[in-house]
Amino acid sequence: MDNRVYIFDTTLRDGEQVPGCQLNTIEKVEVAKVLEQLGVDVIEAGFPISSPGDFKSVVEISKAVTWPIICALTRAVEKDIDVAAESLKYAKRGRIHTGIGTSPYHIQYKLNSNPEEILARAVAAVKYAKKYVEDVEFYAEDAGRSDNVYLARVIEAVIKAGATVVNIPDTTGYCLPSDYGAKIRFLMENVSNIDKAIISTHCHNDLGMATANSIAGVMNGARQIEVTINGIGERAGNTALEEVVMIMRSHKELDLHTNINAKNIYKTSRLVSSLMNMPVQANKAIVGRNAFSHSSGIHQDGVLKNRENYEIIDPVEVGISESSIVLTARSGRAALKHRLDLLGITLEKEKLDEVYEEFLLLADKKKDIKEDDLLVLVGERGGLGERRIKLDFLQVVTGKNLVPMATVRLDIAGEKFSATESGNGPVDAAITAVKSIIHRKVTLQEFLIQAINKGSDDIGKVHMQVEYDENIYNGFGANTDIITASVEAFIDAINKIGNAEKAAAK
Ligand code: KIV
Ligand code: ZN
Repeated sequence: MDNRVYIFDTTLRDGEQVPGCQLNTIEKVEVAKVLEQLGVDVIEAGFPISSPGDFKSVVEISKAVTWPIICALTRAVEKDIDVAAESLKYAKRGRIHTGIGTSPYHIQYKLNSNPEEILARAVAAVKYAKKYVEDVEFYAEDAGRSDNVYLARVIEAVIKAGATVVNIPDTTGYCLPSDYGAKIRFLMENVSNIDKAIISTHCHNDLGMATANSIAGVMNGARQIEVTINGIGERAGNTALEEVVMIMRSHKELDLHTNINAKNIYKTSRLVSSLMNMPVQANKAIVGRNAFSHSSGIHQDGVLKNRENYEIIDPVEVGISESSIVLTARSGRAALKHRLDLLGITLEKEKLDEVYEEFLLLADKKKDIKEDDLLVLVGERGGLGERRIKLDFLQVVTGKNLVPMATVRLDIAGEKFSATESGNGPVDAAITAVKSIIHRKVTLQEFLIQAINKGSDDIGKVHMQVEYDENIYNGFGANTDIITASVEAFIDAINKIGNAEKAAAK
C-alpha cells in the first residue's frame, strides 16, 4: 500500500465556521498562499452556496493558488453542486466535496428520512457532481456513529458512482481511537471497490481525541487526513495539522509520509492565529508558546546536557527559533537575521537593512519583539517590489468636537511633497491628504484593522483594498500607531499600482 498520506486542510471552511474567526477574501487568499507554501495537498476553500463571501473566496483562492487541489463543500443538493462547480471554474485542479448524514440520528432526526433513501441521495449527488469534475469526495456525515455495515454499503455505492475520495467524519468527536481505527479497517476489508478510492479521516476534538483518531485511521488504511491549522474549528475544534504531521515524522516506524514542509508550521500557525483572532493556548502541542520551553531547573539542566533528554522534536524543525536569542532595541542585524533564518525567511542585504530600520523603530516602542511582530515586519516588506512612495511625516489632530486634520509628507523618489486635509476621522483626513499629493483617482474598497498580540502596546495591522482603473490592489501596513499603519497600507497599495504600471510598460 502506498504510504503517502494526503493532507486536506479545512482551516478556511470548517475552521472558519467558528464564531469570531471569519476572514475576508483578502485574508483567506493570504492564508491559502501560506498553506500552499506549507505543502498541503488540498485546500477546502469554502462552502460556496452558504454566502456570496464564501463563493468569492473560492473563486479568488482558485485564481491565486497553483499547486494544491481546491475543494468546495456542498450538501447532497443539486443547486449546491451547481454553485460549487461555478466557484471552481478557475481552479487548476478542482474537487467537489458532497455528502449526507448516515448515522441513525442524522437519518431520522435531521433528514427525516430512511437509510435506503439516503443511499440513493448520496449516489445521485456524486453522479451529479461528476458531471462537473473528475475529482469528487463524498462525506458520510456522522460516520463515527453510523452502523458499519450500512456505512460500507453507502461507501461502496458512492465509489461505484465515481467518488475518488471517501470521507469518514467523526462529526461529534465521539469515537475512541480503537473504534475509529476498527471502522476504517472494516471499510478496507468490506467495501469491494475500496481500492478505487482514498479513505479520508475527518475527526473533531470534542473529547480531545481528534489527533489520536486520525492517526488510528491512517494506521488502518486511510490515506488522507482532514485538518486545520492549530486545530481550530467549531466547538472543541478539528484535528490539528501540526500534530498529525509531527506524529508521522517522529514515529518513523509508521512509515507514513506527507508533503508538508515542517519548517513552515510555526509561521503558518501564527499567521492563522493572528488573522482569525484565535490565540494559541500556551501548552498547545507543537505550536504553543511553552511547547519547547523548559522552566524547571532539572529540565533546564537536562536540556543543556543533551537536548534530547527532554525534547522529542527539535523546535527548529517546525520553524521555531531558539528562545535564548531575545530581540530588543539593542539587537544587531545578525540577531535579526538569525531569527528570520529560523523562521525560514531569507532577505537580501538591502531588504534586511530596510526591515532592520523598522525593527529598531518598533523595538523602541515595544519591549518584547515577538515572532508575530517579525512576521508582520517582513510580511509588510515581502514581495513588495519597489517602494517609490514612502511616508516621511504624519501628524494628526483629532479629538471630541474637533474636525480631524492630518498633515502628510511623502517622499516620492527622493522628492518631498506635503499636504494638509480634514476628514470625517483621522484616517480619512490622512488618506485624503495622501490622495491630494498623488493625484490618482483611487477608491477604497476594504479597510480592516486588527491587533496581533492584544497588549495596549501592540502592533495594529491594516489591510486595505483599493480600486484603480478597474483593477484591485491590496496594501498592508503595520505599526503601533493604527493611523500610521492605515496610511502605510494605503501607500503600499499605491506603490503596487505604480509597480503594475511599470511592469505593463515593459
Ligand atoms: O464534521 C463534519 O462532518 C464535516 C463534514 C461537512 C465534512 O465537517
Ligand atoms: Zn467537520
